[in-house]
Amino acid sequence: MQPVGDLRLGVNIDHVATVRNARGSAYPDPIRAAKLAQEAGADGITAHLREDRRHISDADIAGLMSTLELPLNFEMAATDEMQAIALRHRPHAVCIVPEKREERTTEGGLDVARDENRLAHFIAPLRDAGCRVSIFIAADRAQIEAAARIGAAVVELHTGAYCDLHAEGAFDKRDEELARLTDMAALAHDLGLEVHAGHGLTYDTVTPIAVLPQIVELNIGHFLIGEAIFRGLVPAIHEMRRLMQDARG
Ligand code: PXP
Repeated sequence: MQPVGDLRLGVNIDHVATVRNARGSAYPDPIRAAKLAQEAGADGITAHLREDRRHISDADIAGLMSTLELPLNFEMAATDEMQAIALRHRPHAVCIVPEKREERTTEGGLDVARDENRLAHFIAPLRDAGCRVSIFIAADRAQIEAAARIGAAVVELHTGAYCDLHAEGAFDKRDEELARLTDMAALAHDLGLEVHAGHGLTYDTVTPIAVLPQIVELNIGHFLIGEAIFRGLVPAIHEMRRLMQDARG
C-alpha cells in the first residue's frame, strides 16, 4: 500500500488554448500560462490533446515538453494516434480519458471494465516507456477494480457529477455522490492505486474532495482559467492552493 502523501495541484491549461483558437491567433499562449502556473505553485500541468485539436495543439505539447520544468500530465484518448504521440514525447504521466467528438467536455469516465483486454495492451508500451498511466473513471467499484487489474498506476476519479449536482442545488444527491467518491477513493488506495480527482472543481466544491486523505492530486482547469479573467492566473491559483491546504489542515 502506498503512503498517503500531500495534495498536489495540476493546472489544466486547455482553455487558454480555447481562447487562442477562437481567433486563430498566437495568443493567449498556453505555454506562457503553464510557466505562470509554475510560478504560482502548481505542481504539474495537464493538457488534453483531443482528436479534433479543438484547444491544445500538437505544437503545444511539443512546446510544453521542451520548456516546462513541471511534470506534464498528457490527457488523451486510447487511440493509436495518441499512443504514438505519447511514446514520442514520453511525458511524466499519461491520463487515458474517453472522448466523443460531439461532447463539450469529457462527460464521463472511461469504461475500463468493458474494454479491459484492449486497454491492458494499450497501456503496456506507455508504462514500458516510463509514463505513469492514469485512468479517468467514475467513482465505481467495477471500474476501479478493472483499472487495478490492467496495471494502471493511477486512477483519476471524475468529480463532474458531484460538481454538477452542487451547482444545481441538488444537495442530497450531491452528498450521495460525495459518499461514493469517499468510499471509492479508499478502495482504490487499498488496491495500491494512486488516487487523483478532477473535473468541474471550483472554490465552492474543492474542499470536500481535498479532505479525502487518499487523494494526492487534483487536476483543475476550466474554473481557474475563467477566474483568471477576473483576478489573474497567479492569484486564482494561490486561492485554490490555499483552500486545498486548509482542507488538509
Ligand atoms: N481531469 C480530467 C481527466 C479532465 O479530462 C479534465 C478536463 O479536461 C480535468 C481534470 C479538468 O476539468 P476542469 O477543466 O473542469 O477543471
